[in-house]
Amino acid sequence: MQTATLCILIKGLFSLSSGFSAEISVFVQTGASVQLDIQTQELPEFDDLSWKKNISENIVKYTSESKKEKRYSSYKDRMDFNNRTFSLTLKNMQKTDSGIYRAIAAAESDNNIVTYRVSVIDAVEAPVLTVNSNSSSPDPCNSTCNGSSNIIISFIYDSSSCSPEEVISSDNYILRLSCIGDSIMCNYSNQVSWKTDTKKVNELCTAKTEKHEEAPAFPPWVIFICLITLALAVIGFCIYKRKKGTEHPTTILFQ
Ligand SMILES: *[C@@H]1O[C@H](CO)[C@@H](O)[C@H](O)[C@H]1NC(C)=O
Ligand SMILES: *[C@@H]1O[C@H](CO)[C@@H](O)[C@H](O)[C@H]1NC(C)=O
Ligand SMILES: *[C@@H]1O[C@H](CO)[C@@H](O)[C@H](O)[C@H]1NC(C)=O
Ligand SMILES: *[C@@H]1O[C@H](CO)[C@@H](O)[C@H](O)[C@H]1NC(C)=O
Ligand SMILES: *[C@@H]1O[C@H](CO)[C@@H](O)[C@H](O)[C@H]1NC(C)=O
Ligand SMILES: *[C@@H]1O[C@H](CO)[C@@H](O)[C@H](O)[C@H]1NC(C)=O
Repeated sequence: MQTATLCILIKGLFSLSSGFSAEISVFVQTGASVQLDIQTQELPEFDDLSWKKNISENIVKYTSESKKEKRYSSYKDRMDFNNRTFSLTLKNMQKTDSGIYRAIAAAESDNNIVTYRVSVIDAVEAPVLTVNSNSSSPDPCNSTCNGSSNIIISFIYDSSSCSPEEVISSDNYILRLSCIGDSIMCNYSNQVSWKTDTKKVNELCTAKTEKHEEAPAFPPWVIFICLITLALAVIGFCIYKRKKGTEHPTTILFQ
C-alpha cells in the first residue's frame, strides 16, 4: 500500500522533470518500504546494471551475459530486485538509509540511468489541541494547537467565518486548524504522515454565534397586520367623521 503510493509519487515527479539525470526526491516513513524504478523503457546496451548508494556503495549488480545478480551485504536481507524491470525495493527503511541512490548501466563507460534522493523520516506525533474553557479569560474562543517540538498555532473560533489557519515549519511540517461544525480540528502533517486532534468548541463561543440566528421579537407578518389594522382604523375614523359633519368628534367617539 505504502509502496504503491510512493510509486505514484515517483511517477508524478518524474513526469514533471525532464530527462533521466534529474534527481527524484522521495520521502519514506521509518520502517516502510520504497520501490525505486529505472524510469525508462529503453535501456542502453550494458554489460551490467547496478544500484549503488552514495556513489561507491554497491547494493546489487545484475550481469546481462550470465543473467545473474549479486546482492551485496548492506541490504542483502531486506531488498527485492526485479530482474525484468530492474526496479529495486528496499524494506524496513531506517533514517540511516537516507542518501542518494543511483542505477548505473555499465558498458564501455558508466551510464547513470536514474538518481533518487531518499529521505527517511518518522511519522508525526499526534498534535495536542487545547480549547480555552475559561469563560473569564479575555478571549474564550481562542484555541491553541501544539504540534510537538517545533510549531504552535492559535485560532479564534468564529462559526460565521471559519477560515482555516496554517503554519508551515522550515522542515515542511504543516499544522492546520479548521472548523467542522461546532468542533475544531487540528491536522499535523509531514511528507509521510498526518494525525489530527478534534475538540468541541467552548459552549460560550457557539452560544454567541447562535444569538444571530434567533427570530426577531416581531416577525414581519405581525408588523404587516398591525399596519393594515392601523390604516383601516384611520380610514374608518375619517369616513365616520365626515358623515357626522360638524358634530364634535370626541363625543361621537365615546358614545
Ligand atoms: C529472475 O528472478 C526470478 C525470481 O527471483 C527467478 O526465478 C529467475 O530465474 C530470474 N531470471 C533470470 C533470468 O535470472
Ligand atoms: C550518504 O549520503 C547522505 C547524504 O548525501 C549522508 O547523509 C549519509 O551519511 C551518507 N551515507 C553513507 C553511508 O555514506
Ligand atoms: C481565567 O482567566 C482569568 C483572566 O485571564 C484569570 O484571572 C483566571 O485565573 C482564569 N481562571 C482559570 C481557572 O484559569
Ligand atoms: C490565543 O492564546 C494564546 C495562548 O494563550 C496566545 O499566545 C495567542 O496570541 C492567542 N491568540 C489570539 C489570536 O489572541
Ligand atoms: C508543546 O508540546 C511539547 C511536547 O510535545 C512540549 O514540550 C511543549 O512545552 C508544548 N508547548 C506548549 C506551549 O504547550
Ligand atoms: C490532514 O492533512 C493532510 C495533508 O495535508 C491531508 O492529506 C489529510 O487529508 C488531512 N486530514 C484530514 C482529516 O483533513
